[in-house]
Amino acid sequence: MTTPAAVKKFVDPREFDSEEFRRDPFPVYARLRDHSPLYQDRFHGRWVVSRYDDIVDIFQNNEDFDRAAYDPDGEYEFGKRHVFGPNILEYGNSDRHHFLRNVVADQFVGKRLDSFLPVIELIARELLGRIAAKAAEDTVAGFRKAGEVELVSQFSNQFPVRVISNMLGLPRVDEERFVGWYQDLIAGLGFGGEFFVRGMHARNEMWDYLDPLIEQRLDAPGEDLVSRIVLAENKGTRMTREEVKGFVALLLAAGGDTTDKAISNMWYHMLYTRPDQFEAVKQDTNLWSNVFTEMMRFDPVVHAQGRHTTREIKLYDDVIPTRSMVTLYLGAGNRDERVFKDPDTFDILREDLHMGRELRSGRYGDGKAGHLGFGMGQHFCMGYAMARQEAVIASQRLMEALKNPRAKFAHHEGITSPGDIGSGGFRAPRELWVEFDV
Ligand code: HEM
Repeated sequence: MTTPAAVKKFVDPREFDSEEFRRDPFPVYARLRDHSPLYQDRFHGRWVVSRYDDIVDIFQNNEDFDRAAYDPDGEYEFGKRHVFGPNILEYGNSDRHHFLRNVVADQFVGKRLDSFLPVIELIARELLGRIAAKAAEDTVAGFRKAGEVELVSQFSNQFPVRVISNMLGLPRVDEERFVGWYQDLIAGLGFGGEFFVRGMHARNEMWDYLDPLIEQRLDAPGEDLVSRIVLAENKGTRMTREEVKGFVALLLAAGGDTTDKAISNMWYHMLYTRPDQFEAVKQDTNLWSNVFTEMMRFDPVVHAQGRHTTREIKLYDDVIPTRSMVTLYLGAGNRDERVFKDPDTFDILREDLHMGRELRSGRYGDGKAGHLGFGMGQHFCMGYAMARQEAVIASQRLMEALKNPRAKFAHHEGITSPGDIGSGGFRAPRELWVEFDV
């Protein structure tokens, strides 16, 4: 283990707040992994873990590391001050977390997810229809010879939130309002001050909107997600009204903001990092599934997750005190050269990465390592299958709709984070201009 003096030389905690880190955190990650795999960041009052195996161990050790920051003996306060309200993610390792997970988890996998696949297809086609119509109009009006689209604002930002609102069974006329609430909620989550106030305002409006909708679904349930969630039971118990609303708010952020950025990241890497492999994907669109997996390793949307120690933990030569904040840098673990060969190369055909369905345990029978992008263990992403389906279907439909897609500009500023990576600043390109034949 390195001494404090040596650590200072390798990593300065202020680096975590720099613009450079938001743009390209990987050199700092490499220094952490090599010289200080358990790094005490006194400046931010936390401990930082960066190696793959350590992250896997901590994710799977629920006894010693809790997701929630509340006092288990005290009143649970979290939802009252959070834009989402009470939600599954923040119930830590409590019994309530197990209950909520059991009630809703199977809505997002297997046959129940399959029943929503037509919705995903429909929304993708609708959005693409608009893009194609705009390109045709521009051409007829003599503006352009090639079609063009800014993929982030015109497609990725809109697609997952529309899928979710459709799955919830909201009236189509209300969809724009829902998209607006979603945008304010996300901003309220990542930034403080007036953004937080707007986020809370959006949450309150959305909650008021949901009340009569929930009543109506209880009276006359349908096949939509709201009906399924309000009626779902575990050992005869249902979610409380507040939990249903908190879950809908969480769905928007956990499933919307992340999947939207995943689609953009996949396209960024095909257009700019590996145009050679993009040619192979054009020939065989099933390879989008590999693009998704390698993106989740190489440049995952979510780079960090937090845990709190429930007791003193000895790791390497240090002792982490009880109730300390621990940041797990998934983005660093995914580039660990102890696990992945040539980790800084984006390669959709790499042989050391498990390319199939993600597992909650992170261990694979094929002997390959899984990416850390969905976390693992008790809080393993409930929407992993849905995110994969959405991102792959969206990309395949985009490929069909946009003939000969290519980067409009030769240079791109790259993938970046709009906020602090350590506390939820999800990473994606700000813009992605694509040209195509019309
Ligand atoms: C590419 C897209 C996505 C990424 C990168 C992502 C990432 C993650 C990560 C890293 C966690 C683990 C949190 C932790 O360990 O503390 C998580 C949990 C969660 N995700 Fe996702 N997610 C994505 C899509 C989705 C979708 C589409 C949904 C909704 C259907 C969803 C719902 C959830 C929920 C409810 C949890 C909390 C589970 C629990 O606490 O038991 N996610 N996600």
